Amino acid sequence: IKASFIGIGKIGQTIAYSAITKGIFDEVVLYDIIPELPEKFEHELRHALASLRIDTEVIGTNSIDDVTGSGIVVISAGRPRKPGMSRRDLFADNAKIIINLAKELPKRNPGAVYVMVTNPVDMMASVFAKYSKKYVISTGDQVESMRLRAYISKILHVPVSQVDGFVGGEHGEDAVVLWSTVAVNGKQVEDLPKEQIEKYVKRIPGDIIRVMGGTTWGPGTIIADIIKAIMLNENRVMSIAVPRQYEDEIIHISIPTVVGSKIGPTLEDHLSEDDRWHLIAAMKDYYSVYKDMLKSIKTEG
Ligand code: NAD
Ligand code: MLT
Repeated sequence: IKASFIGIGKIGQTIAYSAITKGIFDEVVLYDIIPELPEKFEHELRHALASLRIDTEVIGTNSIDDVTGSGIVVISAGRPRKPGMSRRDLFADNAKIIINLAKELPKRNPGAVYVMVTNPVDMMASVFAKYSKKYVISTGDQVESMRLRAYISKILHVPVSQVDGFVGGEHGEDAVVLWSTVAVNGKQVEDLPKEQIEKYVKRIPGDIIRVMGGTTWGPGTIIADIIKAIMLNENRVMSIAVPRQYEDEIIHISIPTVVGSKIGPTLEDHLSEDDRWHLIAAMKDYYSVYKDMLKSIKTEG
């Protein structure tokens, strides 16, 4: 299988490294517009693969024509937020890049599954779907879900492998912890400091960006796991966002979903009424903000 990584800055490199070193691809294309960057990153990865004795063929390129015949295309091209910004503030700048990619990639990669990483990630997935008519998932709140589990493990002093739980809704400030899914050792926990946990899940990426310039290792590992679940048909439950029709648009809202070579079904029927209510509210809010954002890029031309 051939995988392509579009935009290999901070997060693109981390995802590509983490996915490629799992040895799950025959061939990989690394594409970016910065001269020499993909080619030099290709060398770095080749050195890593030599040590790991993994025979994946890697090509770094500035030519989009090399991105052809992929089974999976991972898009992390575009601007990251700076401290103080919200992810939605990136909409106008990154939508231009994503619309352009939505025109260029599908004709070269008609059979690919597309995975959106660029922020605001859910809306960029919806924009890509609108302009490409291709199947695209957003990595959504799987990242928040792992932050949730990590923090519960830390404050309760329990092994993280015993912690379950998902976050849903829109990736970012408006994400919602799906409390009916949270469990330690298979049991729901009384008296969790819910507000403190929610604050952590929403604020930690901003704090990491302020100090480290961007989030990398966390989302890089988590997103590589999403890619692996698709490639190896693992059928793992992950809180990603799949395209769904909502009024006149395709929208992307994270819900725990079975992820394998076939993506779905979502498991919303298994959630509590309260959690489902929050997801419905998230869809409504997403739709109205998304419509306004779409209008704003149209008027800008
Ligand atoms: P970065 O600035 O380090 O890298 C972005 C890269 O995109 C650059 O190398 C740039 O040259 C490239 N690029 C720009 N336009 C391009 C185009 N048309 N074609 C190909 N490449 C192009 O930024 P980063 O920290 O890697 O973040 C990239 C995006 O990913 C941001 O929008 C960021 O918010 C998002 N992100 C999302 C998650 C998530 O969980 N979904 C996690 C981390 C970062
Ligand atoms: C993240 O959650 O790590 C990403 O969306 C990057 C960001 O916080 O802007």
